[in-house]
Amino acid sequence: MAAIVLKDVWKRYGDLDIVKNFNIEVLDRSFCIFVGPSECGKTTILRMIAGLEEVSKGYIYIDGLKVNDIAPKNRDIAMVFQNYALYPHMTAYDNMGFSLKLRGYSKKEIHQRVYEAAEILDIGYLLEKRPKQLSNGQRQRVAIGRAIVRKPKVFLFDEPLSSLDAKLRGQMRAELKKLHERLQSTIIYVTHDQTEAMTMGDKICVINDGRIQQIAGPVELYDNPTNKFVAGFIGNPSMNFFEVDVIHKNDVIFLNEGTFETPLPVRFREKVFPYIGQKIIMGIRPENIYDRLFYNTTNKEVSSFSATVEVVEPLGSEKYLHLSTGKNEFIAKVDSHNSVKTNQIIDLVFNLAKILLFDIKTGIQII
Ligand SMILES: Nc1ncnc2c1ncn2[C@@H]1O[C@H](COP(=O)(O)OP(=O)(O)OP(=O)(O)O)[C@@H](O)[C@H]1O
Ligand SMILES: [Mg+2]
Repeated sequence: MAAIVLKDVWKRYGDLDIVKNFNIEVLDRSFCIFVGPSECGKTTILRMIAGLEEVSKGYIYIDGLKVNDIAPKNRDIAMVFQNYALYPHMTAYDNMGFSLKLRGYSKKEIHQRVYEAAEILDIGYLLEKRPKQLSNGQRQRVAIGRAIVRKPKVFLFDEPLSSLDAKLRGQMRAELKKLHERLQSTIIYVTHDQTEAMTMGDKICVINDGRIQQIAGPVELYDNPTNKFVAGFIGNPSMNFFEVDVIHKNDVIFLNEGTFETPLPVRFREKVFPYIGQKIIMGIRPENIYDRLFYNTTNKEVSSFSATVEVVEPLGSEKYLHLSTGKNEFIAKVDSHNSVKTNQIIDLVFNLAKILLFDIKTGIQII
């Protein structure tokens, strides 16, 4: 049975729709990510699932039961917030046990559950400390511990790692995944960070402006984004976009960027045909643009063009070249030993099998 279902859910504040027609099934025991830019409505959605915010229209079901009118405390959900809001005057132990105390659990039961959670999170040695004696990462663990002790059916995480440094975030990501394996509960995890989304979720729901853009696994989102928003949001550095004219000459379709022209493979012809004479967007990821000198084009359908190098960013394992055709700016990922310099004009190729095309008005993927 699906653990959480949102059906035609809307949220309206005043005369503004913040969450628009949300439909999703989060399967029992799955790890589902909601990802989207700031203010797209992520926290609002979690708060509606937790019951902290009313649903303006539509229905929320947990384990088949409609919960619209069920109080938060009866939904069997634990939410871990972005600012973990521990009680400063209580020890980690008391912070973790507090909700159980409120619910009337015995001291013995509280003790057992707190120690069990502390063992899972490896924070047994911190239980007597107060929040101000803890690092951010340790506080975060205590906040997660506070959720775990309740053994809820569902965990809602609202950007729990955003205040940690990059290394600790990486560690906690892996630990949360392990935790999920161990607890076998349903998790919805909200983030604005696409790397976090890609590395953690079985299923990722990409949101923009209160609307679901696409729900898919990480590989599918990366390879086959349904629209330009998802294509640009998922992947780092972002996908490059070139505005091109669709031209028909001698029965071949070309994409003309202004400084270069690419013949389109015949297999794309039917889908692109309606766009002849119009502009569309061609997308290509930075790792699919190559320095022509080092790319073997045998048996590949490639297109060549040249561009000026504006900035070279060495990252150790690779280099990002910031480039310009004069019409469009874009990024190519090249080998770290590539010796290309700023202001140099470089010959590039891209593999036509890797391009995506988008409708310029709707952003919908054409191929
Ligand atoms: N109680 C409220 N009254 C009016 N508007 C609200 C209320 N709560 C949230 N909003 C608005 O709803 C929009 C979405 O807010 P929300 O907090 O859900 O975004 P978010 O995706 O979680 O953003 P962030 O990544 O910054 O946390 C924002 O424009 C916000 O100003
Ligand atoms: Mg938020």
